[in-house]
Formats: sequence, structure tokens, C-alpha cells
Amino acid sequence: MISKRANQIGESPTFKVAARAKAMKAEGIDVVDLSLGEPDFPTPENVKAAGIKAIQENFTKYTESGGMPALKKAVADRIKEDYGLTYGLKEIIVSAGAKSSLFHLIQALVDEGEEVIIPAPFWVTYPHLVTLAKGKSVIVPTKEENGFVLTAEELKAHISPATKAFLLNSPSNPTGATYSRAQLEALADVIRKVDIYVIADDIYNKLVFDSFPCVSFSQLGEDIRKKTIIVNGVSKSYSMTGWRIGYAAGPADVINGMDKIQSHTTSNPTSISQRAAIEALAGPQVELARMVAEFQRRRDFCLMKLRAAPRLSCFKPQGAFYLFPNVRSYYGLEFNGAPIRNSTEMAYYLLNEARVAIVPGEAFGADDHIRLSYATSMENLEKGMDRITAALARLSSRPAMGSSTS
Ligand SMILES: Cc1ncc(COP(=O)(O)O)c(C=O)c1O
Repeated sequence: MISKRANQIGESPTFKVAARAKAMKAEGIDVVDLSLGEPDFPTPENVKAAGIKAIQENFTKYTESGGMPALKKAVADRIKEDYGLTYGLKEIIVSAGAKSSLFHLIQALVDEGEEVIIPAPFWVTYPHLVTLAKGKSVIVPTKEENGFVLTAEELKAHISPATKAFLLNSPSNPTGATYSRAQLEALADVIRKVDIYVIADDIYNKLVFDSFPCVSFSQLGEDIRKKTIIVNGVSKSYSMTGWRIGYAAGPADVINGMDKIQSHTTSNPTSISQRAAIEALAGPQVELARMVAEFQRRRDFCLMKLRAAPRLSCFKPQGAFYLFPNVRSYYGLEFNGAPIRNSTEMAYYLLNEARVAIVPGEAFGADDHIRLSYATSMENLEKGMDRITAALARLSSRPAMGSSTS
């Protein structure tokens, strides 16, 4: 029998829908897949070349468990350039993806029964990471009318003597919501008065639109920086999801705790990927700028199409590559006698009837919504938006009881 711990972890719903979509595609069905969270662009050529060179030079052995000093230096330089903050190498760890950094970070911070505040909608993995550390997730819903941004009052109301950390993801997966400096300052005023850490998951910090000034929580003053651990990586900004390189920057004792744990889990991140990541972080950033411009164009197109659906509303995100439309007013309607009652039924309706794969909002703690990723070609998006809006229009009200059809 497997452990209680393993039993507590559900399979990622994101992957479940994607797996069904993949199976349908394998059967030759033309499915538009808007479910996955990775850029559709190739890894930039200069980055690929750095990886190839690493192999050719036989750079294929173990490195320092927390990452090569040269990569830590590239991370420090990137943070300096982006945030104006100086981090020493002992304040940085490199891991096999940001997910791995988050896992080791939560293992290093959270003792049994300690609480981690997570605003909802949240990235599906967060509560599981807290569970694996025997901690308790305190899920705090944000309001759509507040742009999915947690207010200072909402944060304050959920801090208890057991709170160990507050997990902030801006820009957010799944909403794309990006906190302004003023909104972060309001949260920082609450954090200053309590002894808790802030985990700033900045993985989408480069993917912001309309010249929105993206601020990291770590930038709000030296006192705040001392309580904050930045988590980031190359997956999203440099289209490197498969290379598995993420990193964390924060107080040296926390980073050291993570390093000790990591040395017994993954050991070092892949040597070859580390060399490629140095090139991504320190090399030319032109591909990134191109990718952001394209994401913005796609966001605007999808928003325009979706908002034309009569019952659907959709928040305009400033970052990441997701839309998180509210489809609640379709609940209760039906197709061929089968009602749609929640986001999972909506996801399967869209997959089966519209041949479009999306992720039910329930997976992110927001059942009134569905998540669409626009990290796919414009051609796919055009097809996908047309299919979704046509399928929504086919949903109808249940005929009133006793009504005559004559
Ligand atoms: C909010 C958020 N944080 C972290 C990650 C993990 O990224 P990585 O591929 O570096 O593990 C993801 C990936 O989907 C994400 O959406």
C-alpha cells in the first residue's frame, strides 16, 4: 500500500484534461489544445548553442549541488538589472526548475502544522507542496472585481500565530493578474508588523504587457527583502520548460537549508542546462521582447473574441499567458439534455463538443472560471475562440416543467 502522503496528492487536473486531449489527438481528432502552460516558441538559438557546446566540451558531470557559481552569478546579475537588488552567491540556489526550488523552499521553511497563506485562484501545485511539508494551506479567495488582487485587509484577516509564510504569485497563473506597486506596498505594510516570510513567485515577471511596470515584492525596501524569497527560472521567459532550471534568492540561512535538502533529493540541476541558462540570463534578450509582443497581440485577440460571447465576462490580465473567463452564467444551461453545472463539466463539454482543451477553474480554487492558455499559434487561437463561442451559444435553458411543445 502506498503512503498516506502519496494518497493525499491528487493528479494534477491540468494534466488530466491535457492527457484526454492528447488521447483524442492520437485517435486523429482535431483538438485545439489551450490547456498547457508553456510558451510555444522554440528555445532561442544562442541558448541551444550553449547547451550543445556544453555537451561537446564534456561538461556532463556533477556540479555543486546548489548550482554552479557562474550560473549563480548570472542570476545575481539578472536580479540586479531587473530589480536593482544585490544578492551574494550564498543567497542564491539553482534547482531543477522553479517547482523544485519551491518544493525545497517549503520543506526548508515549514514545520508540521504551520500555515502558508495562498491567495486563490492559485497555481495548482502550491497547496500540494505545503501538504508534503505537513503544513496547512490557508486559501484566501480574491475578488474578480478587485482584479484578483489580495487586499491588505484580506491578508491581515488570515494571519495567525501559526502563519509561516505568505505565497504571492505576480503575474499570476491562472489569472494573469499583476500587482501594482501601490497594491504591493499595502501588503508590505501588513508584512512589516509580523514575523513571517514572503515567497515571491516571480516566474512570469518578464511576461508583462502594455508597458505595465512589474514590481517584485522583494523591491519594497531592505526590511521586506530580508523576509522575502524570490523564486524564478528560465522556463517561461526563455521558453525553456524542458531544460528544468529554476532558482531562488533570499536570506542565506534559508538558502542554505534548501541546499542541504536539495543535495539529498535532486543533487545539482543538469550541468548542460545550467550552461544554457547562463546564456539565457546573461545573453541577448531580443527573443524575449519578441515573445512578449506576440503574447500581447494574442491576449488582445482572444479577449476581443471571448467578450463577444453574451454571457461570458473576462478580466484583462497584464501578464503571463492565460485568460481566466468567468463562465458561471452558463451553469444550469444544458446540451442534449445534459446540464453544465460546474467548471469541470464545462471543460469536458468544450473538449467533447467543441474539440478545445481548457482547464477547469476548480483546479485553481475558482469554480466559476475556466483557464485558457494563449501560448499557441494565432491559427489555433482563431479556431479555438470560434469553437468555444459557437459551443457556448449551443447551450440552452432546460424547458420549463409542464410546458407544452405544441
Ligand atoms: C506560477 C508558477 N510557478 C512555478 C512554475 C514552475 O516552473 P518550472 O517549469 O520552472 O518548474 C510554474 C509552471 O507552470 C508556474 O505556473
